Amino acid sequence: MTTPAAFQPLNAQNIQRALSTKTFGRTLHVLEEVASTNTAAAALAQENAPHGTVVVAETQTAGRGRLGRHWHSPSGKNLCCSILLRLLPAREQQPLWLSWIPLTAALAVRRAVQVLTNLKPSVKWPNDILIGNRKLGGILCESSGVGTAHASVIVGIGLNVNVRRDEFPEELREIATSLAIEARHPCDRTALLAALLAELETRCESFLAGAHEDILKEYMLRCSTVSQRVRIELAHGEQMDGVAESIQADGSLRVLRDDRTAVDIRAGDVVHLR
Ligand code: BTN
Repeated sequence: MTTPAAFQPLNAQNIQRALSTKTFGRTLHVLEEVASTNTAAAALAQENAPHGTVVVAETQTAGRGRLGRHWHSPSGKNLCCSILLRLLPAREQQPLWLSWIPLTAALAVRRAVQVLTNLKPSVKWPNDILIGNRKLGGILCESSGVGTAHASVIVGIGLNVNVRRDEFPEELREIATSLAIEARHPCDRTALLAALLAELETRCESFLAGAHEDILKEYMLRCSTVSQRVRIELAHGEQMDGVAESIQADGSLRVLRDDRTAVDIRAGDVVHLR
C-alpha cells in the first residue's frame, strides 16, 4: 500500500515535479534536520546561490521567530522553509520593497492555503497567518547587504500543517492552530509548498513590475487587523492602545490612539483586543 501524500516525507523530486514556478524552488535543498532554514539559506546566499533558492527542512533545532522568539515545529508535520530573494529593485526603491516583502509573503501563504484547503485565513499585521484568532503560520524576513549590489533577503516561512492539537506545547494550545485541525483532514505539504512558491513568485514579480497598489489593495482586503482595537507592544516593553485605521503606502500600520493622535507603526507586535 502506498503512503497517502499528506503523510509522505518531503523529497526534492516530488517537490520539483509539483512546481509551476519559473525560478522559485528550481534550486532546492530538502534537509532532514537543520538549525534554521533561514540560517542555511543565508549561508547559501554567501556562496552565490541563485534568486529563488529554497531550503526546506523536516525539523529545525533552533527555528527562529520574530522578535527573538523560538519557532516550535515537530518533525515531519509542518512546513519550515526559506526562500532567497536576490532580485531587488533599484537602490532607491529597496526600502519600500523591503518593508513590503513580509506582508507580500503573508498574502502568498494565505492564498496558497485557501487554494489548497478552501479555508480562508487572514493576515494579522504585519505577517501572521490566522484562522479566527489562532496562529496558523508566521514569517521571518532577514536581509543583508542592503544598498549594495549584493543585497539579498531571506523569506522564512513556518506553517502548521499536520500537527495535532495535543502536539502543540501547552502554552501554544489555545493560541495556535494547524491546517489539519481546521480542515479536519491531513494536508499534502508538497502541494502546499508548490502553491506557496507560485503565489510568492507571482507577487514578487508584480511588485517589481510596479504593481505596489495591487499588493496594497490585496493586503487591505485580507488584513484582519484593520478596524480592530489593538495593543501595540513596542521595543523596551512600551505599549500603546488604539484602533488600527489603515495600512500606509509603505506597509506601516496607522493606529489612531485613544488620545486621537495617529501613529504609523513600522515594527512591533500587535494584539487584537476584540
Ligand atoms: C514568527 O515569529 O511568527 C515567524 C516564524 C518564522 C518561522 C520560520 S520556520 C522557517 C524559517 N526558519 C526559521 O528559523 N524561522 C523561519
